[in-house]
Amino acid sequence: MQIVELIHKKRDGEALSSEEIGWLVEQYTNDAIPDYQVAAWLMAVFWRGMDARETSDLTLAMAHSGEQLRVREMVVPVVDKHSTGGVGDKVTLAVAPLVAACGVAVGKMSGRGLGHTGGTVDKLESFQGLRTSLASEEFLHILQQHGIVIAGQSSQLAPADGKMYALRDVTGTVDSIPLIAASIMSKKLAIGGSHLLLDVKVGSGAFMKTVEQARELAVAMVEIGRVGGMHTVAAITAMDQPLGRAVGNVLEVVEAIAILRGEGPGDVSELCYHEAAELLVMTGKARDQAEAEDLVAAAVRGGAAVAKFAEVIAAQGGDPRQVERPELLPAAPLRRMLTAPRSGYIAAMHAERIGLASMRLGAGRFKKDDAIDHRTGFILQARVGDYCHQGDPLVEIHARNEDEAAAIQQELLRCYTWSDEAVQPGPLIYEVIHP
Ligand code: URA
Repeated sequence: MQIVELIHKKRDGEALSSEEIGWLVEQYTNDAIPDYQVAAWLMAVFWRGMDARETSDLTLAMAHSGEQLRVREMVVPVVDKHSTGGVGDKVTLAVAPLVAACGVAVGKMSGRGLGHTGGTVDKLESFQGLRTSLASEEFLHILQQHGIVIAGQSSQLAPADGKMYALRDVTGTVDSIPLIAASIMSKKLAIGGSHLLLDVKVGSGAFMKTVEQARELAVAMVEIGRVGGMHTVAAITAMDQPLGRAVGNVLEVVEAIAILRGEGPGDVSELCYHEAAELLVMTGKARDQAEAEDLVAAAVRGGAAVAKFAEVIAAQGGDPRQVERPELLPAAPLRRMLTAPRSGYIAAMHAERIGLASMRLGAGRFKKDDAIDHRTGFILQARVGDYCHQGDPLVEIHARNEDEAAAIQQELLRCYTWSDEAVQPGPLIYEVIHP
């Protein structure tokens, strides 16, 4: 086979065979094809797309390109959960211990912040001493002992995706639905959980800007799950304003702990309880959503959910007292309250720009190797649809110093759209796609 023939074929809109896709992935993983030819092929895929069979073939080939953990051979059921990323998205931090507290194991590898979106690994590292870089043996050991583990993505897993993702990042080929679906699902299949819940975010703070795009991605991933033997369900959920009130690493951890205690903000708590319940139904732990929501509510009320979170933090080397007493987590030295510049209803909040503003305070990275400040970020005081009087609290800014807090204020105000008429916020969950 010749790579140049495969580039021609895809450039001309033809489908590649399973053998051709398998060969390309294997040769690229072994450095037998140069980046520039794979970049040309990726650009052809970007324009011509891939059908469902090609997308599954690419996913399986990438999943098999490195180590495979096969976690479901040790613990069954064992669930995984993935969000396509958003602003203030602390759902994984709450859903994983909620599900584990209800008796279903969770084995999860997460990423760091990407662009304006936060990452679970960065958030978890708010805990002093906590390790997210776990060798496979330790990952499996913690999973078996505690029924929950949340680690950083191992580079041994799906290395073909690691190489291809880095190449896509610098060749304008990231936002292709089949390539995104294959990239995400290859890592999930390499971990080998039995059930996967995907949270596909849509809106101004998400990579998918329309429900149609989000649906296409969700359907592609559910289909790959079916072919790969992993029971996969995808929820399409709103990211047109930040989720909950906290944006920033420690601040989001504190909010996740509040959700586990039943004291979190309404929207994000509702989403976490819903997703946890969905996983309990998927795994047969509950007969239906109502029974599952009762189990989740009992785990919150009885303290089992927050205790499970403290247990996994301790198992990964963190200090569980910081879960019991979140005021022990590090805090930014300065808090400033930004107030509403006018009276009116909040018609929209630009989630992506709020995410970028939090990065400027130090909560995210502009370059791959930037250090982040876990303490900084925002507590949003009002949400879309709320009425504010001029001068009411709008955003509590948690900053390193006075200059940084002052510099961000105008930018934050530009994230808000106001209305004199009452505004109805959109739905939190658009649809759920089952196999
Ligand atoms: N996250 C991934 O893991 N892969 C993509 O292609 C996009 C987001």
